Amino acid sequence: MRYHVTMKKALKKSPRIADQKVLLGGISPKQFLREYWQKKPLLIRQAMPGFKGVLEPDELAGLACEEDAQSRLVRFSRGKWLLENGPFAEDRFARLPKTNWALLVQGVNHHLPEAADLLRRFDFIPHARLDDLMVSFAPNGGGVGPHFDSYDVFLLQGMGKRRWRVSAQHDLTLVEDAPLRILKHFDTQQEYVLEPGDMLYLPPHLAHWGIAIGDCMTYSIGFRAPSTQELASQFLGYLQENLSLDGMYSDRDLTLQKHAAEIGDDMVRRVHGSLKKIRWNKESVGDFLGQYLSEPKPHVVFSPSAAISLERFHKSLMRTGLQLDLKTQALFHAKTFFINGERVTMQPGWTACLKSLADDRKLSAESLQHLDELLLAQLHQWYLAGYLHCA
Ligand code: SIN
Ligand code: CO
Repeated sequence: MRYHVTMKKALKKSPRIADQKVLLGGISPKQFLREYWQKKPLLIRQAMPGFKGVLEPDELAGLACEEDAQSRLVRFSRGKWLLENGPFAEDRFARLPKTNWALLVQGVNHHLPEAADLLRRFDFIPHARLDDLMVSFAPNGGGVGPHFDSYDVFLLQGMGKRRWRVSAQHDLTLVEDAPLRILKHFDTQQEYVLEPGDMLYLPPHLAHWGIAIGDCMTYSIGFRAPSTQELASQFLGYLQENLSLDGMYSDRDLTLQKHAAEIGDDMVRRVHGSLKKIRWNKESVGDFLGQYLSEPKPHVVFSPSAAISLERFHKSLMRTGLQLDLKTQALFHAKTFFINGERVTMQPGWTACLKSLADDRKLSAESLQHLDELLLAQLHQWYLAGYLHCA
């Protein structure tokens, strides 16, 4: 079956460009990237006018009780920082003091569509760099203490107010016996009080300290930046899985050695020659990145959808369109599409559809009208695996 897709709607320019300018305090995403990204902080008053947050404190506490949400409770008590990891029992929150603690839940975008929509406003940064949305709640005085992060973060104020202290200090020594990363010294150089809708962008390694003024909720849009060591060891794992080398060790030119126990230079030379056959190029790096960066985190599990036939799936698609599951990570590079660590080569005619699905996380029924049979079968497989749903 030939494939003629009317992707007009799916490919239409994002109406978010104007929103993004407000989000960045009147500057364009281009200017933001050039002047601030990874370079210096930016305070944006009313980045999201009227923003009230996407969940209530008790809903956040509810999430913190769930097995598949990563949550932490940080307390400062009698001069000591204390850390508890979730999931929490419901009655844990009833036994907390009135001040000086913070509850933090990672990956809220995996649980709430509104949180995932909030992340989409930051689409001017590649999805491959985006980590997740963390939401925190703290009563007066609460926070996670003075620290620095190794990644970029946008700190968007939801409910209430928070005082942010920022310092470009060079001394990043940490308190030795604390259960979380706390700076030993902190020199406040700038101080801002954020109100609902205000946002503070911080580049990596900039010391900061957020303290709640009354009940307060903060939304942290965090980005991932693997260390070179992590990238290299992951890449070596990828190479190992994808390696297929011919030949065996052979030494037809073996000569008599003085010591039988010695690994002679000749042996080293032969193996060195064999190992040089391990080769990679930009294509392998692109393929590795797609698989590695779309791989779900260890705690993420997908619930397979109720089995329906290809025909029924097709009918539903035509009616409703489709959307990616909140936990799905979809990326592409060149002709390869990556979804939750799996890869598929985009056949001619699949490209516009799959690129649009990865960018927008959804496809309208209209854009799926004349669907290629093989692509339909592939989408059906992903549907059954729980990677996407009929919208
Ligand atoms: C918080 O929301 O309390 C912590 C955010 C941060 O400092 O990175
Ligand atoms: Co931080």
